[in-house]
Amino acid sequence: MTTNSQTRKADHKAHIIIVDDDEAMRIALSQWLELSDFAVTVYEDAREALRDINPDFAGVILTDVKMPRLDGITFTRSVLAADPDIPIILMTGHGDVPMAVEAMKSGAYDFVEKPFEPTDIVENLERAIEKRRLVIENRNLRRQIAHRGSLDSRLIGNSLPMRALKDEIANIAPTEVPVLISGETGTGKELVARAIHDLSDRRNDKFVAVNCAAIPEGTAESELFGHEKGAFTGAAGQRVGWIEHAIGGTLFLDEISSMPLALQAKMLRVIEQREVVRVGSNAPVKVDFRLICATNEDLSEAVTARHFREDLLFRINTFELAIAPLRDRKDDVALLFDIFAERAAERFERPYERVTPTLTAQIKTHEWPGNVRELKNMAERYVLLVGSPEERFKRLFKGGLETATSGPADLALADQVRGFEERVIRDALDRHDGNVKSVMEELDIPRRTLNEKMKKLNIRRDKPV
Ligand SMILES: Nc1ncnc2c1ncn2[C@@H]1O[C@H](COP(=O)(O)OP(=O)(O)OP(=O)(O)O)[C@@H](O)[C@H]1O
Ligand SMILES: [Mg+2]
Repeated sequence: MTTNSQTRKADHKAHIIIVDDDEAMRIALSQWLELSDFAVTVYEDAREALRDINPDFAGVILTDVKMPRLDGITFTRSVLAADPDIPIILMTGHGDVPMAVEAMKSGAYDFVEKPFEPTDIVENLERAIEKRRLVIENRNLRRQIAHRGSLDSRLIGNSLPMRALKDEIANIAPTEVPVLISGETGTGKELVARAIHDLSDRRNDKFVAVNCAAIPEGTAESELFGHEKGAFTGAAGQRVGWIEHAIGGTLFLDEISSMPLALQAKMLRVIEQREVVRVGSNAPVKVDFRLICATNEDLSEAVTARHFREDLLFRINTFELAIAPLRDRKDDVALLFDIFAERAAERFERPYERVTPTLTAQIKTHEWPGNVRELKNMAERYVLLVGSPEERFKRLFKGGLETATSGPADLALADQVRGFEERVIRDALDRHDGNVKSVMEELDIPRRTLNEKMKKLNIRRDKPV
């Protein structure tokens, strides 16, 4: 992260770009401006400056008008076509009124007559910088508001923890920092990871999700890093790994704590060196991706227990987003239930009437060990059941409420969650006659996750798929 902090330090200073074909002028100006605490970049040729200037450039441009290759007026017009709010100060010939008029017509912020003392220009620059700062600030604010709108439609919930989470997502999404999302099962970690990707500048590139718990240990290395033809017995062809697939986009490492230690070491190298070496190759491939990781385990505990590398943790947790369990944001329960039920009713073409406040209060008392996934499942089953709302709730929560209240109070949360998961999967398998594909769809989990959970919970399907 050294590079990042260095840029951040440089960003602190206001940035001035100087474009002038006259070397003596470039030197004199840049020296003076650097002494005045500006960060300065100089260009002899305006065409090169044009190549480097991005629409969100946060500084001010100071350019000569008379230049051999690209003149200052044309240069100004090109810059302003990309971003009409970048302040440009033109340096015109002394007493050249037509040129000064032309300069202002081109949309330049200001002009100064040559020759001038560098001291004279500092005040103009500071004013221009302040104007630019306001424009950028406003733009960011508008973007954040737009982001919030799209976040509200994807991440349901208006409770305080949810609002804070959405603010953090809007704030962190456009940056490149690695994000570590933590939260219990079903709290929405994957949903949040996708939201971050979709609000980032990488939104038009791929979002590659890898569930570290679901890759078999034997093939994990080649799945992640790829392999060359003949790298090991059975490697008939070349394989591009998930990391390379994510180039340009976002790599989402789900359940990162399940990554075997040997792979953690390799992953650390990829993150530090930004390159990947396929199994059986020694030619590194440059990789550029944004990393998002998710965990439902406490990674510092995993570090203490020595099944997670501390150095890797420090690489991935630059920014941590902790999603609160549903029982800590009960204000969201009614809204979530209502929206999920409404959507399900539409999908299954069933009628749905909003649940009464008494029943809403009842679902609020439930502990929701399976969090939003459990609630979504419940809302969908509610829509599919027949009978009065009261009857349906009775049937629904006969199982559900037991989880929260019947288990011994001192049963560890992980065990309660395990018990809950086991029952949901068994029930679903029963309902679908052991058809794993239908279970995947109903529970909205990928096949690998389901297989992995079934393996962990010792659930066998009675019938073949
Ligand atoms: N705030 C929310 N608004 C709308 N849907 C949500 C919200 N939170 C979670 N969900 C939905 O709940 C289900 C579970 O979410 P997700 O898969 O993201 O959870 P997870 O934290 O990754 O769970 P696990 O640890 O089991 O993998 C998904 O169908 C998701 O769309
Ligand atoms: Mg998940």
